[in-house]
Amino acid sequence: MKKVIVTCGLPGKALDRLSKKYQLYIHSSKEKSMSDEELKQRITTADAVITLLSNKIDKKMLDAAKKLKIVSNYAVGYNNIDIEACTDRNIWVGHTPDVLTETTADFAFALLMSAARKIVVADKYVRNEKFHGWFPELFMGCDIHHKKLGIIGMGRIGQAVAKRALGFDMEVIYYDTRGDLGINNAQSVKFEELIETSDYISLHVPLLESTHHLISQKELERMKESAILINTSRGPVIDEKALTKALQERIIAAAGLDVYEDEPNVHSGLLNHENVVLAPHIASSSKETREKMTEVAVENVIRVLEGNKPLHSVNKI
Ligand code: GLV
Ligand code: GLV
Repeated sequence: MKKVIVTCGLPGKALDRLSKKYQLYIHSSKEKSMSDEELKQRITTADAVITLLSNKIDKKMLDAAKKLKIVSNYAVGYNNIDIEACTDRNIWVGHTPDVLTETTADFAFALLMSAARKIVVADKYVRNEKFHGWFPELFMGCDIHHKKLGIIGMGRIGQAVAKRALGFDMEVIYYDTRGDLGINNAQSVKFEELIETSDYISLHVPLLESTHHLISQKELERMKESAILINTSRGPVIDEKALTKALQERIIAAAGLDVYEDEPNVHSGLLNHENVVLAPHIASSSKETREKMTEVAVENVIRVLEGNKPLHSVNKI
Protein backbone atom coordinates (compact mmCIF):
# COMPACT_ATOMS: atom_id res chain seq x y z
CA MET A 1 0.00 0.00 0.00
CA LYS A 2 1.26 3.45 -0.91
CA LYS A 3 2.21 5.74 1.94
CA VAL A 4 1.21 9.37 2.34
CA ILE A 5 2.46 11.72 5.07
CA VAL A 6 0.75 14.94 6.08
CA THR A 7 3.01 17.17 8.20
CA CYS A 8 0.16 18.93 10.04
CA GLY A 9 -3.56 18.39 10.62
CA LEU A 10 -5.52 20.15 7.86
CA PRO A 11 -9.06 21.61 7.89
CA GLY A 12 -11.99 19.99 6.09
CA LYS A 13 -12.75 16.42 5.17
CA ALA A 14 -10.60 15.94 2.09
CA LEU A 15 -7.91 13.94 3.92
CA ASP A 16 -10.51 11.15 4.25
CA ARG A 17 -10.09 10.54 0.53
CA LEU A 18 -6.47 9.60 1.21
CA SER A 19 -7.17 7.27 4.12
CA LYS A 20 -9.48 5.21 1.89
CA LYS A 21 -6.77 4.50 -0.66
CA TYR A 22 -3.44 4.74 1.10
CA GLN A 23 -1.61 4.21 4.32
CA LEU A 24 -1.95 7.69 5.76
CA TYR A 25 0.06 9.30 8.52
CA ILE A 26 -1.19 12.68 9.71
CA HIS A 27 0.86 14.57 12.28
CA SER A 28 -1.22 14.80 15.44
CA SER A 29 -1.08 18.58 15.87
CA LYS A 30 -3.22 21.09 14.00
CA GLU A 31 -1.10 23.95 15.28
CA LYS A 32 2.45 22.86 14.72
CA SER A 33 4.07 20.96 11.91
CA MET A 34 6.01 17.73 12.32
CA SER A 35 9.68 18.48 13.09
CA ASP A 36 12.31 18.26 10.35
CA GLU A 37 13.89 15.27 12.10
CA GLU A 38 10.63 13.35 12.24
CA LEU A 39 9.81 14.22 8.64
CA LYS A 40 13.24 13.05 7.53
CA GLN A 41 12.56 9.66 9.10
CA ARG A 42 9.03 9.29 7.86
CA ILE A 43 9.79 10.49 4.34
CA THR A 44 12.15 7.54 3.68
CA THR A 45 9.27 5.21 2.86
CA ALA A 46 6.67 7.74 1.71
CA ASP A 47 5.21 7.93 -1.79
CA ALA A 48 3.75 11.38 -1.19
CA VAL A 49 3.97 14.15 1.37
CA ILE A 50 1.71 17.13 2.01
CA THR A 51 3.85 19.94 3.42
CA LEU A 52 3.36 23.35 5.01
CA LEU A 53 5.27 26.42 3.90
CA SER A 54 7.35 26.08 7.06
CA ASN A 55 8.64 22.61 6.04
CA LYS A 56 12.02 23.00 4.40
CA ILE A 57 12.30 20.50 1.58
CA ASP A 58 15.95 20.71 0.58
CA LYS A 59 18.38 18.25 -1.01
CA LYS A 60 19.14 16.60 2.34
CA MET A 61 15.45 15.94 2.95
CA LEU A 62 14.98 14.66 -0.61
CA ASP A 63 17.99 12.36 -0.31
CA ALA A 64 16.29 10.67 2.62
CA ALA A 65 13.22 9.99 0.46
CA LYS A 66 13.56 6.76 -1.46
CA LYS A 67 10.13 6.44 -3.08
CA LEU A 68 8.75 9.95 -3.09
CA LYS A 69 6.72 10.99 -6.16
CA ILE A 70 5.19 14.26 -5.02
CA VAL A 71 5.69 17.07 -2.55
CA SER A 72 2.23 18.63 -2.33
CA ASN A 73 2.63 22.04 -0.72
CA TYR A 74 -0.34 23.40 1.22
CA ALA A 75 0.26 26.94 -0.12
CA VAL A 76 0.50 28.81 -3.38
CA GLY A 77 4.10 29.88 -2.60
CA TYR A 78 6.83 27.26 -2.81
CA ASN A 79 10.06 28.95 -1.72
CA ASN A 80 10.38 26.33 1.03
CA ILE A 81 11.08 23.66 -1.60
CA ASP A 82 14.15 23.09 -3.75
CA ILE A 83 12.22 22.77 -7.02
CA GLU A 84 15.23 21.93 -9.18
CA ALA A 85 16.28 19.15 -6.83
CA CYS A 86 12.76 17.70 -6.97
CA THR A 87 12.72 17.83 -10.77
CA ASP A 88 16.16 16.14 -10.90
CA ARG A 89 14.72 13.31 -8.79
CA ASN A 90 11.49 13.04 -10.84
CA ILE A 91 9.43 14.35 -7.96
CA TRP A 92 6.43 16.55 -8.70
CA VAL A 93 5.87 19.72 -6.70
CA GLY A 94 2.18 20.54 -6.27
CA HIS A 95 0.71 23.75 -4.84
CA THR A 96 -2.69 25.37 -4.22
CA PRO A 97 -3.20 28.44 -6.44
CA ASP A 98 -6.57 29.92 -7.52
CA VAL A 99 -8.62 28.78 -4.50
CA LEU A 100 -6.87 31.33 -2.28
CA THR A 101 -6.66 34.28 -4.69
CA GLU A 102 -9.76 36.22 -3.65
CA THR A 103 -9.35 35.45 0.06
CA THR A 104 -5.76 36.70 0.04
CA ALA A 105 -6.78 39.83 -1.86
CA ASP A 106 -9.53 40.48 0.71
CA PHE A 107 -6.92 40.33 3.44
CA ALA A 108 -4.42 42.57 1.65
CA PHE A 109 -7.20 45.12 1.39
CA ALA A 110 -8.14 44.63 5.03
CA LEU A 111 -4.52 45.35 6.04
CA LEU A 112 -4.49 48.40 3.80
CA MET A 113 -7.68 49.74 5.37
CA SER A 114 -6.57 48.94 8.92
CA ALA A 115 -3.25 50.70 8.42
CA ALA A 116 -4.81 53.74 6.74
CA ARG A 117 -7.63 54.21 9.24
CA LYS A 118 -5.70 53.09 12.37
CA ILE A 119 -8.33 50.50 13.23
CA VAL A 120 -6.12 48.31 15.38
CA VAL A 121 -4.74 51.07 17.58
CA ALA A 122 -8.17 52.66 17.82
CA ASP A 123 -9.63 49.34 18.97
CA LYS A 124 -6.96 49.11 21.65
CA TYR A 125 -7.79 52.66 22.77
CA VAL A 126 -11.46 51.81 23.25
CA ARG A 127 -10.67 48.54 25.06
CA ASN A 128 -8.30 50.36 27.37
CA GLU A 129 -11.18 52.68 28.29
CA LYS A 130 -9.48 55.73 26.87
CA PHE A 131 -12.43 56.89 24.80
CA HIS A 132 -13.68 59.84 26.81
CA GLY A 133 -15.31 61.83 24.05
CA TRP A 134 -15.33 62.76 20.39
CA PHE A 135 -12.83 65.30 19.15
CA PRO A 136 -11.75 66.38 15.67
CA GLU A 137 -8.21 65.02 15.63
CA LEU A 138 -8.92 61.65 17.22
CA PHE A 139 -7.14 58.97 15.17
CA MET A 140 -6.96 61.00 11.98
CA GLY A 141 -5.96 58.53 9.31
CA CYS A 142 -5.73 59.03 5.61
CA ASP A 143 -8.16 58.46 2.80
CA ILE A 144 -8.21 55.34 0.70
CA HIS A 145 -10.71 56.42 -1.95
CA HIS A 146 -9.29 58.35 -4.92
CA LYS A 147 -5.71 57.60 -3.86
CA LYS A 148 -3.09 55.82 -5.96
CA LEU A 149 -2.43 52.15 -5.36
CA GLY A 150 0.78 50.64 -6.74
CA ILE A 151 0.75 46.86 -7.10
CA ILE A 152 4.07 45.08 -7.47
CA GLY A 153 3.52 41.68 -9.11
CA MET A 154 0.32 41.69 -11.15
CA GLY A 155 -0.48 37.98 -11.06
CA ARG A 156 -3.69 36.38 -9.85
CA ILE A 157 -3.66 37.98 -6.40
CA GLY A 158 -2.37 41.37 -7.59
CA GLN A 159 -5.22 41.57 -10.10
CA ALA A 160 -7.78 40.61 -7.45
CA VAL A 161 -6.48 43.44 -5.23
CA ALA A 162 -6.78 45.86 -8.17
CA LYS A 163 -10.43 44.89 -8.64
CA ARG A 164 -11.18 45.79 -5.03
CA ALA A 165 -9.32 49.10 -5.33
CA LEU A 166 -11.44 50.15 -8.30
CA GLY A 167 -14.52 49.94 -6.10
CA PHE A 168 -12.89 52.61 -3.94
CA ASP A 169 -12.25 54.80 -7.00
CA MET A 170 -8.51 54.36 -6.54
CA GLU A 171 -6.10 54.91 -9.39
CA VAL A 172 -4.30 51.60 -9.90
CA ILE A 173 -0.81 51.33 -11.30
CA TYR A 174 1.35 48.21 -11.37
CA TYR A 175 4.80 46.91 -12.04
CA ASP A 176 5.28 43.38 -13.29
CA THR A 177 8.48 41.88 -14.74
CA ARG A 178 6.37 40.65 -17.66
CA GLY A 179 5.66 44.28 -18.63
CA ASP A 180 2.29 45.64 -19.72
CA LEU A 181 -0.30 42.91 -19.27
CA GLY A 182 -3.09 44.90 -20.92
CA ILE A 183 -5.22 45.01 -17.79
CA ASN A 184 -8.35 47.17 -17.84
CA ASN A 185 -8.31 50.16 -15.49
CA ALA A 186 -4.76 49.54 -14.29
CA GLN A 187 -1.71 51.12 -15.81
CA SER A 188 1.66 49.43 -16.18
CA VAL A 189 4.51 51.69 -15.02
CA LYS A 190 8.23 51.47 -14.31
CA PHE A 191 9.26 50.21 -10.89
CA GLU A 192 10.74 53.60 -9.91
CA GLU A 193 7.58 55.46 -10.87
CA LEU A 194 5.46 53.11 -8.78
CA ILE A 195 7.74 53.47 -5.77
CA GLU A 196 7.84 57.27 -6.01
CA THR A 197 4.23 58.10 -6.79
CA SER A 198 2.04 55.53 -4.99
CA ASP A 199 0.06 56.37 -1.87
CA TYR A 200 -0.28 52.64 -1.15
CA ILE A 201 2.08 49.90 -2.29
CA SER A 202 1.02 46.27 -2.12
CA LEU A 203 3.43 43.40 -2.81
CA HIS A 204 2.30 40.30 -4.70
CA VAL A 205 5.51 38.76 -6.03
CA PRO A 206 6.85 35.28 -5.33
CA LEU A 207 10.05 35.05 -3.28
CA LEU A 208 12.91 34.54 -5.72
CA GLU A 209 16.55 35.60 -5.71
CA SER A 210 15.46 38.61 -7.77
CA THR A 211 12.73 39.65 -5.31
CA HIS A 212 14.75 39.17 -2.11
CA HIS A 213 14.90 42.63 -0.45
CA LEU A 214 13.13 44.15 -3.45
CA ILE A 215 12.07 46.81 -0.95
CA SER A 216 15.11 47.97 1.00
CA GLN A 217 16.34 51.27 2.40
CA LYS A 218 16.83 52.83 -1.03
CA GLU A 219 13.28 52.09 -2.17
CA LEU A 220 11.78 53.16 1.17
CA GLU A 221 13.60 56.48 0.97
CA ARG A 222 12.15 57.11 -2.48
CA MET A 223 8.58 56.51 -1.34
CA LYS A 224 6.22 59.33 -0.39
CA GLU A 225 6.34 60.30 3.26
CA SER A 226 2.65 59.46 3.38
CA ALA A 227 3.12 56.03 1.72
CA ILE A 228 1.64 52.90 3.27
CA LEU A 229 3.27 49.58 2.44
CA ILE A 230 1.35 46.29 2.47
CA ASN A 231 2.97 42.86 2.34
CA THR A 232 1.03 39.61 2.02
CA SER A 233 3.65 37.91 -0.21
CA ARG A 234 6.79 36.69 1.55
CA GLY A 235 8.69 38.42 4.36
CA PRO A 236 12.15 38.50 2.73
CA VAL A 237 10.78 40.61 -0.15
CA ILE A 238 11.19 43.51 2.32
CA ASP A 239 14.36 44.27 4.26
CA GLU A 240 12.57 44.20 7.62
CA LYS A 241 15.31 46.06 9.45
CA ALA A 242 15.21 48.87 6.91
CA LEU A 243 11.41 48.99 7.11
CA THR A 244 11.52 49.20 10.90
CA LYS A 245 13.91 52.13 10.66
CA ALA A 246 11.79 53.81 7.96
CA LEU A 247 8.70 53.59 10.17
CA GLN A 248 10.55 54.82 13.25
CA GLU A 249 12.03 57.76 11.36
CA ARG A 250 8.73 58.53 9.58
CA ILE A 251 10.27 57.99 6.17
CA ILE A 252 7.00 56.30 5.27
CA ALA A 253 3.70 56.63 7.11
CA ALA A 254 2.63 53.08 7.91
CA ALA A 255 2.68 49.43 6.96
CA GLY A 256 0.47 46.36 7.07
CA LEU A 257 2.34 43.08 7.27
CA ASP A 258 1.20 39.47 7.16
CA VAL A 259 4.64 37.99 6.53
CA TYR A 260 8.11 38.38 8.08
CA GLU A 261 11.72 37.77 7.14
CA ASP A 262 12.33 35.11 9.77
CA GLU A 263 8.92 33.67 10.67
CA PRO A 264 7.66 33.21 13.26
CA ASN A 265 10.05 35.86 14.60
CA VAL A 266 9.13 39.51 14.10
CA HIS A 267 11.62 42.37 14.34
CA SER A 268 11.33 43.77 17.87
CA GLY A 269 11.21 47.32 16.52
CA LEU A 270 7.94 46.52 14.78
CA LEU A 271 6.31 45.08 17.88
CA ASN A 272 6.29 48.35 19.76
CA HIS A 273 5.52 50.56 16.80
CA GLU A 274 1.98 51.90 16.40
CA ASN A 275 2.01 52.61 12.67
CA VAL A 276 2.20 49.04 11.60
CA VAL A 277 -0.54 46.43 11.57
CA LEU A 278 0.86 42.95 12.19
CA ALA A 279 -0.84 39.68 11.26
CA PRO A 280 0.51 36.13 11.72
CA HIS A 281 0.60 34.99 8.06
CA ILE A 282 -3.16 34.44 7.76
CA ALA A 283 -4.07 36.09 4.44
CA SER A 284 -5.56 32.92 2.97
CA SER A 285 -7.12 31.87 6.24
CA SER A 286 -10.86 31.79 5.71
CA LYS A 287 -12.60 28.54 6.59
CA GLU A 288 -13.85 28.12 3.03
CA THR A 289 -10.45 28.68 1.45
CA ARG A 290 -8.40 26.66 3.91
CA GLU A 291 -10.74 23.69 3.30
CA LYS A 292 -10.43 24.14 -0.46
CA MET A 293 -6.65 24.21 -0.11
CA THR A 294 -6.85 20.81 1.57
CA GLU A 295 -8.93 19.53 -1.36
CA VAL A 296 -6.39 20.77 -3.91
CA ALA A 297 -3.39 19.42 -1.96
CA VAL A 298 -5.13 16.03 -1.72
CA GLU A 299 -6.16 16.04 -5.39
CA ASN A 300 -2.54 16.74 -6.38
CA VAL A 301 -1.41 13.69 -4.40
CA ILE A 302 -4.09 11.34 -5.74
CA ARG A 303 -3.49 12.31 -9.34
CA VAL A 304 0.23 11.63 -9.09
CA LEU A 305 -0.14 8.36 -7.18
CA GLU A 306 -2.53 7.22 -9.90
CA GLY A 307 0.06 7.96 -12.56
CA ASN A 308 -1.21 11.34 -13.73
CA LYS A 309 -0.02 14.93 -13.52
CA PRO A 310 -0.99 16.99 -10.46
CA LEU A 311 -3.90 19.40 -10.82
CA HIS A 312 -1.50 22.28 -10.09
CA SER A 313 2.22 21.75 -10.30
CA VAL A 314 5.17 24.08 -10.02
CA ASN A 315 7.55 21.88 -12.02
CA LYS A 316 7.30 19.57 -15.00
CA ILE A 317 8.82 16.10 -14.96
C1 GLV B 1 0.70 31.37 1.79
O1 GLV B 1 1.53 32.18 2.12
C2 GLV B 1 0.75 30.68 0.54
O2 GLV B 1 1.77 30.74 -0.16
O3 GLV B 1 -0.25 30.01 0.22
C1 GLV C 1 -19.63 62.05 12.63
O1 GLV C 1 -20.01 61.12 13.31
C2 GLV C 1 -20.49 62.97 11.95
O2 GLV C 1 -21.72 62.92 12.16
O3 GLV C 1 -19.96 63.79 11.18
